[in-house]
Amino acid sequence: MTDRGVELINRAEAAARLPEFLGLLAMALTAQARARAPYSNFHVGAAVLSGSGAAFLGCNVESASYGATICAERSAIVGAVAAGETAIRACVVVTPTVDPSSPCGICRQLMAEFGADVVVFAASSVSDSVYVARLGDLLPLSFGPQNLRDMGRAAAE
Ligand code: THU
Repeated sequence: MTDRGVELINRAEAAARLPEFLGLLAMALTAQARARAPYSNFHVGAAVLSGSGAAFLGCNVESASYGATICAERSAIVGAVAAGETAIRACVVVTPTVDPSSPCGICRQLMAEFGADVVVFAASSVSDSVYVARLGDLLPLSFGPQNLRDMGRAAAE
């Protein structure tokens, strides 16, 4: 265990925890090879497992207007939603770092739409290492749909 709720495991252990892991990892590696990252040269692939059990891949797509860049995780979520999915169960992201890189803050925020129980696997494309964590542990006390629902509600005390 590293930070609270985050564990460093390997691919075999990840597959033991999520039967779909190796299939998702293969999709994420395929997407990583398709990433468009001419500015950072940091190629990222992702695959999300939807509520229906289908998988959707994504990659980072960079823009010459740097702020218009989209990360791999968010592009996979966009694909799932566009296909009609309403729930995300897990996200596998692969980065070319020996110590896997975990999702950026904006991607964590978008994942929070799908609940604190989304399981995030951050894998390396150059080592066997995998970090696994619940989204709720990666983004504690997040701002989310519940805050908008709470607006205007009377204080309990
Ligand atoms: N990137 C991702 O695709 N996912 C992340 O979680 C972190 C960063 C991309 C964005 C940019 O194209 C490149 O990695 C370098 O930041």
